[in-house]
Amino acid sequence: MGTGTAALSLHRNLLVRLAEARARTDEIFDIVRPEALYDRHIPERHRIIFYLGHLEAFDWNLLSGRIFGLEAFDQGLDKLFAFGIDPVGGGLPTDQPSDWPARTEVDAYNRRVRETINAHLARASFSDPAQPLLLDGLLVQVAIEHRLMHAETLAYMLHQLPLDRKLSQPGAPAPAAAPAVPRMIEIPGGVATLGLPRARGLFGWDNEFEAHQVEVPAFRIDAYPVTNGEYLKFLEAGGYSEKSFWSDADWEWRAAQGVEHPRFWTQRDRRWLCRTMFDEVPLPPDWPVHVSHAEASAYARWAGKRLPTEAEFHRAAYGTPSGSEREYPWGNQTPEPRFGNFDSARWDPAPVAAHPAGASAFGAHDLVGNGWEWTRTVFGPFAGFERFPFYPGYSADFFDGNHYVMKGGSARTAACMLRRSFRNWFQSHYQYAFAKFRSIED
Ligand code: AVJ
Ligand code: FE
Repeated sequence: MGTGTAALSLHRNLLVRLAEARARTDEIFDIVRPEALYDRHIPERHRIIFYLGHLEAFDWNLLSGRIFGLEAFDQGLDKLFAFGIDPVGGGLPTDQPSDWPARTEVDAYNRRVRETINAHLARASFSDPAQPLLLDGLLVQVAIEHRLMHAETLAYMLHQLPLDRKLSQPGAPAPAAAPAVPRMIEIPGGVATLGLPRARGLFGWDNEFEAHQVEVPAFRIDAYPVTNGEYLKFLEAGGYSEKSFWSDADWEWRAAQGVEHPRFWTQRDRRWLCRTMFDEVPLPPDWPVHVSHAEASAYARWAGKRLPTEAEFHRAAYGTPSGSEREYPWGNQTPEPRFGNFDSARWDPAPVAAHPAGASAFGAHDLVGNGWEWTRTVFGPFAGFERFPFYPGYSADFFDGNHYVMKGGSARTAACMLRRSFRNWFQSHYQYAFAKFRSIED
């Protein structure tokens, strides 16, 4: 047993973080009125009840047999709640509310899972070579970040819940900001370092390894993400009815689904409103627009630009005129509220110019936080990629050419996942994520 002070404080630290992550996901279910628990408001995703069981089932499936050598106490629920869904190409789930267990049954399962995991983790060692998957708390980190990712994806989902099916929760008010004057910034050619080196022993998901450098030619990039106000001009210029701005597949999707505006917008008496987490407000012109990759790409083409690649985002966000690279756009300090809109301080976006302290060395604002940024890089493995043996499909199931890398983070992204190497991804036609974008030109 590693009983050194460092080992003890790592152990204590991870158990505290797990408890905090559980508090975050418990709180998110407080939004759901009891009668809405079996609702599904995103047709491609599971009913809300699935996620209530999934968070604990995931931890149980990860740790109970593999690490603690325990027998299942409810194999049916372990399996029912094991994996989410991400159907590509039209196949939507057809299950009924009655196919799911009662809330009391799920609550009892969850309680038993937590109690058992707590008891075993309390005496587990994170420095025993005989238990390699627990070294440095690896599987506990997996459980924590998996849960925190769901705290965010649940927020997208509950954003779609009609207002009369949810209970509003407190959040910080939007910080004030002068209106952003759109402009572009020159980024000279240089090197971007993507990924995480295995050798450093830091936690990362499978898709973050291995670290490597990419030579990026010079380009110009929007100093701010595209705002609702700018996007409205595209819409009013007929952006949703002019095929030439859209790829064939994106146009086909747009027409088939009848997509005429961002999913976060709604029109009343010919006025555009923005659907916030707990309200509907006149479209805030200086908030970033939240759209799908398809809509972001169409806007960029209309503007005579294109989306950045993952490496270009890295250059703009983490590069510096001297050639060195930073951990965050603002420098190497860990995230603080003044640097951006993230870590669940707010439920909704903030004005794109509200966090000048978070600007990158080249002067680009709002790159981390306030909405993930779409890139035109198809999600795929870095050289040296290896699946996690305990979760082989985490990333590899999505290396299908239909998913695009997103960088940065949203108002609901936990601080630990704002690290430079973290990669998020969604399908091109997924309109529900807290995702924004900016464009570049050569
Ligand atoms: C990394 C956010 C795309 O929600 O589909 C959670 C995270 N994977 N459980 C997703 C995830 C399995 C994943 N994203
Ligand atoms: Fe999951």
